[in-house]
Amino acid sequence: MIDLSTEYLGLKLANPLVPSSSPLTGELTSAKKLEDAGASALVLPSLFEETIEYEQKQLERFVNSQALGHYEAQSYQPVPEDYLSELDSYLERIQLYKTSLDIPVIASLNGISTEGWIDFGKELQQAGADALELNVYYIAADPETEGGEVENRYLQLLTDLRQHVSIPITMKLSSQFSSIANMVLKLEQAGAHGISLFNRFYQPDIDLETLEIKPHLELSSSMESLLRIRWIAMIRGRVDLSIAATGGFHRSDDIIKALLVGADITHLCSVLLQQGPEYIAVLRQELEYWLEEHEYESVEQMKGSISRSCAINPAALEHCNYMHVIKSYEG
Ligand SMILES: Cc1cc2nc3c(=O)[nH]c(=O)nc-3n(C[C@H](O)[C@H](O)[C@H](O)COP(=O)(O)O)c2cc1C
Repeated sequence: MIDLSTEYLGLKLANPLVPSSSPLTGELTSAKKLEDAGASALVLPSLFEETIEYEQKQLERFVNSQALGHYEAQSYQPVPEDYLSELDSYLERIQLYKTSLDIPVIASLNGISTEGWIDFGKELQQAGADALELNVYYIAADPETEGGEVENRYLQLLTDLRQHVSIPITMKLSSQFSSIANMVLKLEQAGAHGISLFNRFYQPDIDLETLEIKPHLELSSSMESLLRIRWIAMIRGRVDLSIAATGGFHRSDDIIKALLVGADITHLCSVLLQQGPEYIAVLRQELEYWLEEHEYESVEQMKGSISRSCAINPAALEHCNYMHVIKSYEG
């Protein structure tokens, strides 16, 4: 009997297959299907800073317009007792999941400013979240903003939250840092328990008829997993953090490679949106077969077994790889 269990963010998980934030993890019915198919934990869709800010402003306007005797207000209307803010609904969902599911539930915050997030973080913890994922989605579009400044925003947010939240915190990162490995080291020093590599960015498109910018969401492909696998290989062994591989994990082969280079879990999103929650059972079975065929007794035994931390000079080796790849092209 192969032992598929793995440790992630201090949690003992039954296997390394964890659905990441998506509409599938946002509804109890589909969350239950994910659990039944073998998901070992799940990450809720993010609570977005902008949504909460907008709601708070709307609420303030509502209350103020009445206090000032707004001409449209016929009479004083108190905020309805059953009014549920986005945050309230999120907290309710965590509580519901915790009573309805057996697997750990990871909450997700998406934002960049410190104010507010500390209180939200505390509330998510109190509601029963087993861990917190921070998706610091920040595009430095201002040419005056220096790289170090951007990094400090991440570190400050983490440091502040760390002081008020005791559940494990993991950072979902983009691949667009000048020195990813250094950034990861700094996050570890600032108290992160884990990292998710890497976030995917969605590039807006242009409608050639209306000449308007239009949002464009394309699901990932398996090829994207290679970037993640490469960086996990380079980082594993350099830091003592839990590592989640995120982005492009569609096939059991992708998952096996991520584990071999040292990921603790792989996140799944696009593949489950395409194939349905039940597909986790297929991936789990294929992973088990592979381990059996290759005479591994457990996921823990295979994890990191071909990590690049064994290499003496990873940067030089990377450069060498690059030359070989370019020279290998046969047009
Ligand atoms: C429809 C959709 C909604 C998503 N919502 C969130 C979200 O709320 N928060 C978040 O951190 N990531 C979100 N993601 C990103 C996924 O969690 C995941 O990181 C990304 O899709 C890469 O993984 P994949 O290649 O398996 O799809 C979303 C992705 C999709 C496709």
